Amino acid sequence: MDEISSDPASPQFAARRAKAREELDAIDPAKNPELLNAAPADPLRRDWFEAVYRLAQNDPARVPWANLAPHPLTKAWVGAQAKGVSGLRALDVGCGLGDNAECLAAAGAKVTAFDLVPAAVEWARTRFPRTEVEYQGADLFALPNAWRGAFDLVHECYTLQALSAPLLPQALAALASLLTPNGKLLLIARARDEDAASEGPPWPLPPSIFAEARRQGLTPLSIEDIAATADVGRRHWRALFGRAEGRAL
Ligand SMILES: C[S@@+](CC[C@H](N)C(=O)[O-])C[C@H]1O[C@@H](n2cnc3c(N)ncnc32)[C@H](O)[C@@H]1O
Repeated sequence: MDEISSDPASPQFAARRAKAREELDAIDPAKNPELLNAAPADPLRRDWFEAVYRLAQNDPARVPWANLAPHPLTKAWVGAQAKGVSGLRALDVGCGLGDNAECLAAAGAKVTAFDLVPAAVEWARTRFPRTEVEYQGADLFALPNAWRGAFDLVHECYTLQALSAPLLPQALAALASLLTPNGKLLLIARARDEDAASEGPPWPLPPSIFAEARRQGLTPLSIEDIAATADVGRRHWRALFGRAEGRAL
């Protein structure tokens, strides 16, 4: 089936998204404890992520995070870099339908982008047939050895917040392992206060994520706490990390 041409700002798109969200919540073991007991253990929520892309049947409105444009905070950050990102070896983590990866590539970075779900990778390739991004299937928790210490810029948008809290230390360590000695990690995520209730997924990240990042070999270089605006909808973190000095890969 061809991708349904759609305008994310249209009421029709919003209606299809709301309906899909309901259906996806109903099959999400993280939201339905009774499903957790019935299904085989799936700590990465792989089955649910695969179901999202499969049930979407090429309609991006049915993929809850797909807005068919780079994240505004990513786009603004890329545009604000005095030295630009041209020539940097960049990696987009959990790339979904590819808009953030394409934003980095359009600014001249040499981009690899990966997702746990092969159907997401295929869909991104189909959307951008002349892309220079190298899309591939991979798991953040089982990264190819060749990627260790290989990237000047790692970009992660909304994947950490889709992981359950016990996975976050390992995820942060995996992100740190990807960076060259002077490499940087750009993190975009929804934010919450430390003691605020979180009824995810997604689970907005609390401030303690930055102390955890330090423990896992990432030094925060800048942390922006961005209030909800019309552009980004809700409160967000935009944070840049370097690799902790002397940290072995
Ligand atoms: C909330 S979506 C965000 C997608 C994209 N970054 C964006 O901003 O539109 C999270 C993405 O991460 C992928 N993902 C989840 N767990 C992953 C893992 N262990 N390794 C790689 N990708 C993963 C999902 O399949 C999904 O496409």
